[in-house]
Amino acid sequence: MNEEQRLEMSKVRTGESVDKKSSQDKPLSEKTTEDFAHYFQTTYQPPDIRKARKRYREDIEVHYDFSIPEQMKTFGVGKKFLIRTYGCQMNEHDSETMAGILMEMGYEATTVDEEADLIILNTCAIRENAENRVFGEIGHLKALKIENPELIIAVAGCMSQQETVVNRILEKHQQVDLIFGTHNIHRLPQLIQEAMFSKAQVVEVWSKEGDIYENLPKARQGRIKAWVNIMYGCDKFCTYCIVPMTRGKERSRRPEDIIQEVRHLAAQGYKEITLLGQNVNSYGKDFEDIDYLFGDLLNDMHKIDIPRVRFMTPHPRDFDDRAIEALAKGGNLLDHIHLPVQSGSNEILRRMNRKYTRESYLELVRKIREAIPNVTLTTDIIVGFPNETEEQFEETMSLVEEVGFESAYTFIYSPREGTPAAAMEDNVSMEVKKERLQRLNELVNKQAAESMKQYEGKVVKVLVEGESKRDPNVLSGYTEKNKVVNFKGPKSVIGQIVDVKITDAKTWSLDGEIVTNTAEVKEDGKIHS
Ligand code: 5AD
Ligand code: SF4
Repeated sequence: MNEEQRLEMSKVRTGESVDKKSSQDKPLSEKTTEDFAHYFQTTYQPPDIRKARKRYREDIEVHYDFSIPEQMKTFGVGKKFLIRTYGCQMNEHDSETMAGILMEMGYEATTVDEEADLIILNTCAIRENAENRVFGEIGHLKALKIENPELIIAVAGCMSQQETVVNRILEKHQQVDLIFGTHNIHRLPQLIQEAMFSKAQVVEVWSKEGDIYENLPKARQGRIKAWVNIMYGCDKFCTYCIVPMTRGKERSRRPEDIIQEVRHLAAQGYKEITLLGQNVNSYGKDFEDIDYLFGDLLNDMHKIDIPRVRFMTPHPRDFDDRAIEALAKGGNLLDHIHLPVQSGSNEILRRMNRKYTRESYLELVRKIREAIPNVTLTTDIIVGFPNETEEQFEETMSLVEEVGFESAYTFIYSPREGTPAAAMEDNVSMEVKKERLQRLNELVNKQAAESMKQYEGKVVKVLVEGESKRDPNVLSGYTEKNKVVNFKGPKSVIGQIVDVKITDAKTWSLDGEIVTNTAEVKEDGKIHS
């Protein structure tokens, strides 16, 4: 995917008090990486595929006993928080959990930096530019902290899980009061308290990765679509990817907890849920007491009265027949599958440790198409992986054509410190990588435009999400296949699924007209489908 499309779709716990810094006697400016390494001594695991295989599953504990400590229950009254989220849907959803906890403490949300008493940067580590943006933002916040010394600045998310990042913040960014990891969100109340009363920067990054916290409060953004975690972590260890280190080992939520959450969302009137996980179709493989996999979960979702169920992200290697059979039932299980391929070259796929070949990916696509003839496939692709040859890149181009992806998120490979690929020799210049990305984007755009063209004159079902960002007189929503549709219609249809006739197809969006004759317009002016 390119910018145009993006725009369109718009531990060891370090101990009790985490005030370790003050317990050391050297001034901060003289400290070295070793001085900070204790924060991670028994927890930080440099990426290592051999070690990954030794991740123990029996450790998984599910906690149902979250509560805000008595002394923190009204701590946020009269105060405001702002959470800035970077990166993926997992982070978006974690931010909803942080917001939920803060609101239970009495905090109110704000979008204005100057009004905030607490600013949390929920960070992403997937590529270098994501990290650079966060460091830029940390720099900007310095002035605000000088103006308002009471302001608490926190850094959370995937960047916090990396030792080098934490060290850099501790050494160079004294304005940051609190750093906490992706496994410490449930400790937010205690951490805020520590940050407030400690004179030193507070760091809590656990790598105790086996736990699941069930009853954390959530302040969801919007009342139409909701994220639902089904599993956490990733054990795939693709050689370019930092996620298995920042998100820990794979662990699945119990089916009954997921089903209850989705039923509750349906009862609240949500129209669409997205089942979330780094590797959703590994779901259930860690259960020792039950035989219940991703396909079984999809079957149970199929029975729930919620109009739309999506999932992201599946791994081609784990896409089994049970899941395909479930998806083939249709109903609320939508016929759009985002299936990251990363490369079309077997040699690159092998060096990426993707555990499938071009041929097996194509065979999976064939099976999916056979079971779900109308399926739309989209993907993720990395160009410029170390030593990628022109021929290997062209194999990616030909695969994109062969599968007929309707859209793709495309990335230039970004070396992530500590991952196996970062140590690989790379003879491809940035200029060549950029040129390959451009060629790939041209092909993806062409296929996207062609796939959109076929909708002209057709009627599609649109879940109306709100006003278009560009024009408040225009409504915007998504089709079942996740295409953006802009159309004129009454605001009363926001939150509903309506029929829209497509009049004009653009590369990344469709324009249309609401079809009122399929809906009954009642006296209240509302359209009832
Ligand atoms: N460099 C570039 N892209 C990456 N991705 C993951 N790690 C990297 C990296 N180091 C891409 C993959 C993945 C998507 C979420 O981000 O394509 O599917
Ligand atoms: Fe990263 Fe996805 Fe590979 Fe896991 S499966 S290591 S999250 S790219």
